[in-house]
Amino acid sequence: MLSPARAAITSVGRFLPEERLTNAQLSEMVDTNDEWIRTRTGIIERRVMWDQDKATSYMAVRAGADALSKRGLPADQLDVIIVATVTPDMFFPATACLVQAGLGATGAWGFDLSAACSGFVFALNTGASLIAGGAYKRVLIIGADKMSSITDYTDRKTCVLFGDAAAAVLLEADTDGAGIVDSALYCDGRNWESLCMLGGGSLNPPTARTVEDKMHYIHQEGRAVFKVAVRGMADVAAEIMERNSLTGEDVRFLVPHQANKRIIDAVARRMDLDPNRVMLNIERYGNTTAATIPLCLNDWEHQLRRGDKLIIASFGGGFTWGAIYLKWAYDGVRDARTDGEAA
Ligand code: ACO
Repeated sequence: MLSPARAAITSVGRFLPEERLTNAQLSEMVDTNDEWIRTRTGIIERRVMWDQDKATSYMAVRAGADALSKRGLPADQLDVIIVATVTPDMFFPATACLVQAGLGATGAWGFDLSAACSGFVFALNTGASLIAGGAYKRVLIIGADKMSSITDYTDRKTCVLFGDAAAAVLLEADTDGAGIVDSALYCDGRNWESLCMLGGGSLNPPTARTVEDKMHYIHQEGRAVFKVAVRGMADVAAEIMERNSLTGEDVRFLVPHQANKRIIDAVARRMDLDPNRVMLNIERYGNTTAATIPLCLNDWEHQLRRGDKLIIASFGGGFTWGAIYLKWAYDGVRDARTDGEAA
């Protein structure tokens, strides 16, 4: 008898702007230095898309197209597109609509999902439910953020942290045991002010004053967020492991949101995980918000095998946090362009 269908990740893709912003360059822009940034965050460089005429959808279309072509799936076969982002091209239409047009996904509907650095985790869970419900067969989840568009490059407390990127996963049904097994998701809005962008919405519509007061940039009380981020991510990862009777030995990789290497190290210690089983690429890309987790999956794809147990964990503005336990669905780098495999 077939097991019930689970949503499994069947392809991954990414887009990174070419331009690098190094710690040395930032040291010329604000009062900071390479040593502080490396030791306090783990970041060495990040990518930035300075072009004014290119926005989040530009990156999202390319990441989505990469995932689809690796699977050998024409875009018109997609059912749903979910774009997790806090830097949509505009308030409306949804970035997902621009991505639908950009990909030529003529049969898909879609929407944006806003949950800051937990955006990808929330979107993955949402997409998985659409597949498990049986109504949809192919859902594209894209985490994409042009963080440089809301970063104040005169504020050393935030400008060293963020980068631009997009990454995507394709979800399809798997009836043979692989896919998303369990999730634990949370939000708590009581302390929203410690990580937010105050201007531009219906509370503070754009005016000369909101611009003058720098309300269109990320505001973060770093130390306060750090404490709750460590606790939130570690607790939720422990919760999902306990619930599924997993030990550190069982987990092939932790896939953590990349906000700070010190947060990731603390979560891995709590999970009793060897550092070589923690995906970490913050040194190259910084915090790309909704893109960090699929970017890791893309970069570690060659090491993954069917049945590998992964724990994804995130913490972000809101606050929002969560963890997903999944079993990987395929071996090594999926690339229909070179191995001729079609969907
Ligand atoms: N270069 C040099 N000095 C700096 C810099 C910098 N770039 N930034 C801050 N400092 C200084 C501060 O001014 C402060 O100096 P003071 O003691 O004289 O006042 C000192 O360094 C320590 O500042 P803290 O803010 O306490 O530094 P901390 O060690 O906490 O590191 C950081 C700051 C990296 C932001 C950290 O707190 C952090 O990672 N927080 C959590 C981030 C996170 O997880 N966010 C959630 C996801 S993001 C999202 O959802 C969009």
